[in-house]
Amino acid sequence: MLEDTSFAIHPGQKKTLENTTYHDVGNLLNFEETKGVYTFSCDAGYVTLLFYRQDIVRIIMNPFEKPSVKSSVALVKEPEKVNVEVVENEVEIALSTGKLAIKILKTPFRVSIYDGTGTLLVRETVKGMGYKENREVICFKEMSENDHFYGFGEKSGFLDKRGEKMTMWNTDVYAPHNPETDALYESIPYFMTLRNGNAHGIFFDNTFKTTFDLRTETDTFSFHAEGGQLDYYVLAGPTPKAVLEQYTDLTGRAPIPPKWAIGYHQSRYSYETEQEVRELAKTFLEKNIPLDVIYLDIHYMDGYRVFSFDKDRFPTPDKMIKDLKNAGIRIVPIVDPGVKEDPEYKIYQEGIRNDLFCKYIEGNIYFGEVWPGNSAFPDFTTKKAREWWGDKHSFYTDLGIEGIWNDMNEPAVFNETKTMDLKVLHDNEGDPRTHRELHNIYGLMMGEATYEGMKKQLSGKRPFLLTRAGYSGVQRYAAVWTGDNRSFWEHLQMSLPMVMNLGLSGIPFTGPDVGGFAHDSNGELLARWTQVGAFTPYFRNHSAIGFARQEPWSFGVKYEEVIKKYIQLRYQWMPQLYSLFAEANETGTPVVRPLMMGYPNDEHTFNLSDQFMFGDNVIIAPIMTPGTTHRAVYLPEDIWVNYWTDEVLEGGTHHLIQADLEILPIFIKQGTMIAHGEVKQSSDYIDEKLTIHLYTSSEGSSLFTLYEDDGKTFDYEKGAFLRKTIKAEFQQNKLELTIEDEGSYTPTWKHLELKLHNSTENLKVNVNGKEISEKEYDRKVNVVTCIL
Ligand code: GLC
Repeated sequence: MLEDTSFAIHPGQKKTLENTTYHDVGNLLNFEETKGVYTFSCDAGYVTLLFYRQDIVRIIMNPFEKPSVKSSVALVKEPEKVNVEVVENEVEIALSTGKLAIKILKTPFRVSIYDGTGTLLVRETVKGMGYKENREVICFKEMSENDHFYGFGEKSGFLDKRGEKMTMWNTDVYAPHNPETDALYESIPYFMTLRNGNAHGIFFDNTFKTTFDLRTETDTFSFHAEGGQLDYYVLAGPTPKAVLEQYTDLTGRAPIPPKWAIGYHQSRYSYETEQEVRELAKTFLEKNIPLDVIYLDIHYMDGYRVFSFDKDRFPTPDKMIKDLKNAGIRIVPIVDPGVKEDPEYKIYQEGIRNDLFCKYIEGNIYFGEVWPGNSAFPDFTTKKAREWWGDKHSFYTDLGIEGIWNDMNEPAVFNETKTMDLKVLHDNEGDPRTHRELHNIYGLMMGEATYEGMKKQLSGKRPFLLTRAGYSGVQRYAAVWTGDNRSFWEHLQMSLPMVMNLGLSGIPFTGPDVGGFAHDSNGELLARWTQVGAFTPYFRNHSAIGFARQEPWSFGVKYEEVIKKYIQLRYQWMPQLYSLFAEANETGTPVVRPLMMGYPNDEHTFNLSDQFMFGDNVIIAPIMTPGTTHRAVYLPEDIWVNYWTDEVLEGGTHHLIQADLEILPIFIKQGTMIAHGEVKQSSDYIDEKLTIHLYTSSEGSSLFTLYEDDGKTFDYEKGAFLRKTIKAEFQQNKLELTIEDEGSYTPTWKHLELKLHNSTENLKVNVNGKEISEKEYDRKVNVVTCIL
């Protein structure tokens, strides 16, 4: 390909904005307000401003006409009624809600945004909003020396994106994934700025190709789009959690996954026959290695036709799926958007005859080459196509399938541009738009079609969807895996900031292909990667055709034992993990978090890319280089306890930690709690007993919320859950626990044990004001057995 030769740096290749003229929106001429929508007419464009909440403002600039307030499919929220105080003088106009103050300088038109305490969030100075010659819209904002940037969805590189220039254009990148790889499969044009311990966010809701430039200038950043309006939301914060609450109020939150979706998943491109799948399942069962899902990659299909099985390779899929389900293992098949051009193929016939495929303006169907050969692509921008596609999934649900894997939905096409012709005109419900404009939402719309279709078919059960491509809001439908990585230690390292930034982008359910997709993995890498995978929200081992097999036993007993131990650990930690998913569902706070989120004033955390937090009180600091048994771990202020040894470690400093192959360094914040269930073969087996591990302290207090429901249905939305809040208050030799239950669900576990770590000899334990008797308190093992 030409782009792999020196042609890539041909001077004529430089299509950057720097070379084109910037037209500033100019001076304010007049402004008006209708029903809470403020519209400003300027010399060279119009700006509309409206509040969604007291702490969320939307600003839209259109250089050519009065802005449209129609938002993209990312948005699920309608503007709330907000009281705005408007004060105007000669020089400026101020709009205040109590939580945001927007100051608009009239000459030239410049916007500055402050929070309710008067802290500056966003300011335009020399340049503000405007456009470039080729109808690109752009704006510039001040960048302070103390600004750190997070989010931006799925990007390679380190955690803090300061100094990066990032493009949003859903792209199938088989290789390379390295620090200078920019656009990947997901486009989340949103970020969070951390400045002096406070956070605020910007969501640039424009589905064209967009670019965020935090590199070109040292004191200014910019974002621009190739077309459309400059349409962005400013989220007031002031904490990273608050920004995520605001962003996910706009774009939606992830449903609580079915429990089986957060177990261990095994995949390969491909397990090619029914017999191979059965043998794989059998080996997991014989070896007592927990397993919830086996994936069927493209080989299961008849000539790669979606909604079909190859009868030679899979003669009795219904029986296979049933037998496996009886053993607690589910099958998740891949479904790509490309429909094979084949007049004798039912799906193709239906798509053509009902006019459901993407077309050019002239009416001819767009065809592109993908796995099945020449293929047509459903136009997911219409409800008709989405419903048709969704309904087709009864093919899978009738067989007992509850989860689907969407791939190649950027959409990927095997050609020079890697995607659909940009001239294709999507119907978009009678408001036709080119693929150039809607490319980035194709995967999201396919996700909606698939998820809603599955939900309908499963009548009450939660579906699981995995997707490769997406746009803001994808969390409403799918888990996201980070695409075609490789079995490189560097890719294990890179997966941490990727998962953290995806989480900070509102997508809590993510993870990389554990062990690496392409390239040959090895025992040590797979063992270390499985340790990390046990704590990433999505946990799937997947590898590519032609490369070393990487099932847990592929590299000998020594590694198998370590891998098994960590897959089991995943199941032990499941109650904790599940509670974190419930929190994400409720608040938008991700499962895996950078330390920055909990310690936004601690500069050691700002770009800490090789450690992460699992919830609020657990730090995971994996080994991610070969032949390594030690690493430096940063523990922020607070006191920390080594999960394996109960050793107490001071915070606010770095520690050298030993971690032989079988050890993943884990640290629990002193004074807090974690919940453990039992090791089991799959999530279908219920917990009889739950253990709350309490890391005692001599002072202070902490809160722990354990969430539980049936793990299968949507009944939790109607109150069928249990939210157990445990408050622990520590005094010298005394522990006071206050426990409160909320919700109508009765858990399967009958015993709840409290395991005390590092407790003093004569500790007195009170539960809801009553002292625990010596009978219930086994001091030898520090276990309190009681009904909590
Ligand atoms: C793409 C996917 C990969 C899958 C392969 C075959 O490369 O990213 O996960 O195995 O296609 O379907």
